[in-house]
Order: sequence, then structure tokens, then C-alpha cells
Amino acid sequence: MERERKSKVSMVVVVSNRLPVVISYKRDKLEIKPSPGGLVTGLNSVRKSRGTLWIGWPGLLGLKGDVKSSVYEILRIKDMVPVFLSREEYNRYYEGFSNKTIWPLFHYFTEYAEYEREYWDAYKRVNSKFAEIIIQNSDADSVIWVHDYHLMLLPGLLREANPDSRIGFFLHIPFPSFEIFRLLPWRDEILKGILGADLIGFHTYDYLRHFLSSVKHILGVEHVFNELIIDDRIVKVDTFPLGIDVDRFVHAESDIFVRKNIEKLEKKYSGRKVIISVDRLDYTKGIIQKLSSFDRFLEEYPEYRGKVVLVLIVVPSRWKVGYYRELKEDIDRYVGKINGKYSSVDWSPIQYFYRMFRQDELISFYKISDIAIVTPFRDGMNLVAKEFIASTWPKGGVLILSEMAGAAIELSEAIIVNPNNVGEIVAAIKSALEMSPVEAKEKAKVMLGKLKRYDVYRWVGDFLDSLDRVKELQKKSVSDLISGADIEVMLSKYREARKSIFFLDYDGTLVPFFRHIKQAKPDDEAIDIILRLGEIAEVVVISGRDKNTMDEWFGELPVNLTAEHGAWFKRKGKEWESVGEVHSDWKDEIRPLIEYYVDKTPGSTLEEKEFSIAWHYRNVNSDLGYMRERDLVENLSYMISGSNLQILEGNKVVEIKNAEVSKGRAVRKWLEMLGGDFIMAVGDDWTDEDMFKSLPDEAFTIKVGFGTTYARYRVKDFRGVRKLLLSFINK
Ligand code: UDP
Ligand code: G6P
Repeated sequence: MERERKSKVSMVVVVSNRLPVVISYKRDKLEIKPSPGGLVTGLNSVRKSRGTLWIGWPGLLGLKGDVKSSVYEILRIKDMVPVFLSREEYNRYYEGFSNKTIWPLFHYFTEYAEYEREYWDAYKRVNSKFAEIIIQNSDADSVIWVHDYHLMLLPGLLREANPDSRIGFFLHIPFPSFEIFRLLPWRDEILKGILGADLIGFHTYDYLRHFLSSVKHILGVEHVFNELIIDDRIVKVDTFPLGIDVDRFVHAESDIFVRKNIEKLEKKYSGRKVIISVDRLDYTKGIIQKLSSFDRFLEEYPEYRGKVVLVLIVVPSRWKVGYYRELKEDIDRYVGKINGKYSSVDWSPIQYFYRMFRQDELISFYKISDIAIVTPFRDGMNLVAKEFIASTWPKGGVLILSEMAGAAIELSEAIIVNPNNVGEIVAAIKSALEMSPVEAKEKAKVMLGKLKRYDVYRWVGDFLDSLDRVKELQKKSVSDLISGADIEVMLSKYREARKSIFFLDYDGTLVPFFRHIKQAKPDDEAIDIILRLGEIAEVVVISGRDKNTMDEWFGELPVNLTAEHGAWFKRKGKEWESVGEVHSDWKDEIRPLIEYYVDKTPGSTLEEKEFSIAWHYRNVNSDLGYMRERDLVENLSYMISGSNLQILEGNKVVEIKNAEVSKGRAVRKWLEMLGGDFIMAVGDDWTDEDMFKSLPDEAFTIKVGFGTTYARYRVKDFRGVRKLLLSFINK
């Protein structure tokens, strides 16, 4: 009943590899325990704040018949659905592809990454298994929120099954730079899988940038303001830095257990400074480097011996993966070595725990600590750093934080270190120990302020609201698409009209874009349409092209022409006329600058028209092209300030022209010359927006493509334009 009720208010189906519990089955007894991990901590709040169904692996293998059903039932009561994994799936999908391929690769440990076909096959199979279970347990209104690197194919599979699904994807680990990501043999499939989502979230702007750059290089899809068009669907990519439940950590003493525990620990470490270190057992966390820094610190500053304790908490994790087991052995050995080297009768420098603590126990450790040392080589976010800052308030703990952790973006008041620089970490430990309480508190205050502003509740709310907004945007762009009924309305107005006029842009509107501008010669169908439309109405082909090219292509057709964005006019069968007094002496000033950009940007070209100069970069490597374009536009803006020149940033082209020349002015002039009570204008570029804006309200303005526009209607591409025009021709 309860589940049925929740599903009506668009339930959030949270999907993660692990359910937020670990179920153990010992001596015929089923037991439920919480499971570690930042993801789990972050998502607990969603369960409290709105109805959720959580789908994931219960963290238990080899279950049979009745026990499986009992697990199923217990979880069902908790609004969870298990995805049981076979031992083989566990080995190949979880330990294999997730933790021996993606985890090391995405954390820049390329030498650890294994590219095994059988891991990949299992990854695909398990993602499909998740998809089936999600489909069985959700409905059309459900919001499906997929988490993390184990399930990157899932958004794509869900989208395939139900194109209208509402899907969010959040990656909790770093997205590596394109140069790293490209090493993955199955990179295309992974990107396409993620792009099945409507909203894709990352912790930091760097991860987002790397993702977009991989999409661009590998799939050739460019973004506009972090939006991508994938199969006519808008996909939004954004940053949502995972936060914590700040109050839970700040006010933890209200719990008697925490208070008692704090007392106990304070007594134990009395008179000594405590440095806390909490990590899952993972080679990305830099634990050995941390130990080595602490070793060197005690070596270099013997006066601190007996005065500081490093509480080293290492949480068991993925121990079946070889590198983790080796790391555990290395840590054990190193801790033994340091303790053996420096311990005195009543003091050991490191207190080492290889176990997991409940979070309330952990908070007690945070609260009695003076310093936290968080020095991962790479970490998507790192919640320990945030939890420590919140827990030590109002005392104000000192945080030593690796610049490679996502958290370093927000917690910039910490002592930021390069985790590879042992000397720097040693110095950081010293300055942390010597920092005045006033300074420590001041810094902690600033950091706490940021943690409060973007806590875990805001994180969840922000993500889900953004997902709603993307769906709205998608709906709008589709609803703008011209329908059969819209065309009927247009046709009836057309039939009533005394005179009709069609303004048609050329590149991207009547023909698709081509790599080389000269290739975009009109094909037979385009010529046929222009010819036949020209026989029944006034047609103006209105382009940024130069007048010679336009003459060559359309000179023989019964149409009017406008070249250079409105600088030149040619009425049917007449000669070209310029728009009027337009100066072009400025071109001598601008030309050398454009030539300079052509020289330093291989593949780019200069196009000179009578009243404008254009720099084309369609054939330039897209990163370089974009960079040079920004640079050129900046230089040009400086050069032309105070003049009446205008910079047009078109599709892979920057053009400089007189401001008085525009397609807007051109259409107004054509209307004065020719008149017309049925007006249609079609264009794809933002230079066409001038035309849409300048036409009377009753004009039928049509944007080609999905970007923002002043036009009243949209068609998808040049094919849509041709189809539309044919309906007038064949009416
Ligand atoms: N944690 C815990 N008990 C422990 C150690 C850690 O509950 O003994 C929790 C900790 O409070 C934090 C999470 O595990 O919320 C670790 O998240 P983090 O982002 O720091 O690292 P991850 O394990 O996700 O790589
Ligand atoms: C990281 C990942 C989580 C994962 C956690 C614990 O935080 O981003 O998805 O749950 O580590 O790892 P485990 O392999 O034990 O689930």
C-alpha cells in the first residue's frame, strides 16, 4: 500500500551498486549493518526527505532460495530492492571492470588498469540486469537517479527501453582528462551510456570539463553552455559538489554516547595533540605517503616526539583486489616500523585501527582531534575532510588537504598540499601544530560557512530540481517543433494572402554544413525547391555568402538574393545593389590581424567580402579553434571599440562587418520593396535572429535546430525545412 502511494508522487528511484546496508548471513541468522562510503552517507538524506526506492546490490554472495526471499522481504519493507549478483558477476563486474579497470583509470592510476574483455562483458550484463529490475519496479513518472561508475551504461539502457524516462546520473569519482579516458577500449560505449541521462552531475568543474572534452573528441558532439543535443534530446551537464549533513556533525554531542566516547578519548590522549587520518583502504588515498611524511616529521622535529599521536583509521575495502591486499601489508609494515622506531614506554606515535567505525564513533574521534590529514593522490570529493571541519566546530580543527581531492575546491582555507610532495606535507604538519587557535578558528569558520550553504540536503534538492528543469526544457524544445496542425494554419494563411514572401537562409538551413565552405553547393533537390517556390511566391535567399558565389549558384533562378548578411541586394533578373553608403576602408586595419590568426591556426581560412572579413575555423582541431576564437574576438572587440563595426560569431566562423548591415535591416528593406502579407523566415544561425526580431508579429519565423531563439517555430534540420517548403509547393 505504502509503496503504491509513494509511486504516485513521482518516487525517486535511487540506483547504486551497493544498497545502503550490508546484510550478513551467519548461522542461519540474517543481520543488517550500515555500509561505509561517501555515496551512502550522502543519499541517506533523500530517504528521509522524500519517498525513495533504492535499488542495488545487498553486498552478499551465494544466497539460495529461502534466504534470498527473506532478504528480499526485509529489504522491501525498507523500500529497497536487491540486485543479487552471482559470484562470477561479482568477480568480473564489481572487482573486475568497476574496480580493476574504471577505478584505477579514472583516478589516474593507468598502470593499474586492466582491460579484460570478460570484465567488460560482465559489466554490460550486470548493467542490463539492473535495468530490468529498475523497469519492473518503477513507472513512467518515476525519477531515476543512477549513481557512480559501476553503472555508467545504465542511463543508456533505460533510455532505450523508455525514451521518455526522467534519468539523472551522478559520478562520485573524478572524470579523468581526455588523454586518460581515451585509453579505455570501450570509451564510446561508456560515454553513450552516460549520455542516456537527462542530467549528468559531477563534483567539480574540472571533471565536467574533462567529460565534455571527451564527448567532443570521441563522439564529435559539442556543447553550448554545458548543454548537449543527443538524438534531438537536450542533455544538461552540471556540477553538484556533494555536501554533508552539517548539523549532525556540529551537534553530535547531544547524543549521550558521543559525549561519553569523547570523554574516554580525551582522557586517553590527554596532553597530546591528535592528528586524525580516516581512509578506506585504497591506493588512491595516499596512505603510505602520509606515513612517510609523518615518519619524516618525527625525524626532523624530535621535539614533537611524545607530544603528537596519529590516529590512523583504515577501513577495510575491496580486499580481494590484489593491489588492496598488498597495500594493507605495506601499511601494516610501515606502521610497525614507525612505532618501533619512535615509541617510548608511555607513547606510541601511531594508533592504528584497521576496521570500520560507526559514524557516531568516528565523530567522537574527529571531535577530540586537533588536525586532520587528508592527502589522497586523487579523490572525487572526500567527505572526511568536510566532516572533520563540521565536527570540530566551534573549536576549529586544522585541516591538511590534498589539492587532488574534489573537496579542495570548496575548502580552500585548509593547508593545501601536493600529496606527492612529502616535504610539503611535513611542513604542513608543523604549521598545523603551530597554528594559533584564533587563526585555526577563523579559517574553520569560513569553511563551515561554505559547508552550510551547500549541505547534503541542498545537494539532493539542487540535483532533483535541475533534473526537472531539464525535462521542462526538453518538453519546450519538442513542443516548439512544427506540427502538422501548425503547417495547416500556415497553409491556410498562405492561401488567403495576396502576396507571399519567403526569406530563406542558406547554410545549415537549405543545405547541411560541410567541412569545406566550397562544398556546400546546392544539390538538385535544393535547387528544385527554390525554383518551384520562386514560381509561386517571392523568395529571398538571404545569406552571409559573397555575391559572386550567390550569383553562381542562384543567378539563373527566379529568386531575389541578399549577400553578405544584408550588404547586397539583387532583385529577380536585376543587377546587384549595395545597401547604401557603407564604408569598407576599415578592412585594411583588420585584415592583418585575421591573417595573423590564419598563420598561427592551421586549417583556418580568411574570407574577404566587399563589406566584411571572416575567419573560418571549421577544419581546426576544436579545442584549438575555440581557444583562438575567444582570443580573436577579444582582440577584435578591443580594436573596434568606438567604431560602428560588429563582430558576428557564427557556426565556426567569426565575421566583422559594418553594424548597419544586418539581416534584420535587409528583411525590412525587402518588405518595403516587395510587400507581402504572408511572411515566412527560416534560419539556423544567430545572424538569422536579427531577421526574426525585425519581422512583424504575424510572420511565421522558423528556427532550424534546438538552440535559444526568437522564432515562433522550430524544425530539426535542413530536411525539415525542405519538407516544410514542399508542403507549400505541393499544396
Ligand atoms: N566512514 C565511516 N566509518 C569509518 C570510516 C569512514 O562511517 O570507519 C564514513 C565517513 O564518515 C565518510 C565516508 O565513510 O562519510 C567516507 O567517504 P569519503 O568521501 O571520505 O571516501 P570514500 O570512501 O567514498 O572514497
Ligand atoms: C567510493 C565510491 C562509492 C563506493 C565507495 C565504497 O566512494 O564512489 O560508489 O560505494 O567508494 O566502495 P565499495 O567498493 O566498498 O562499495
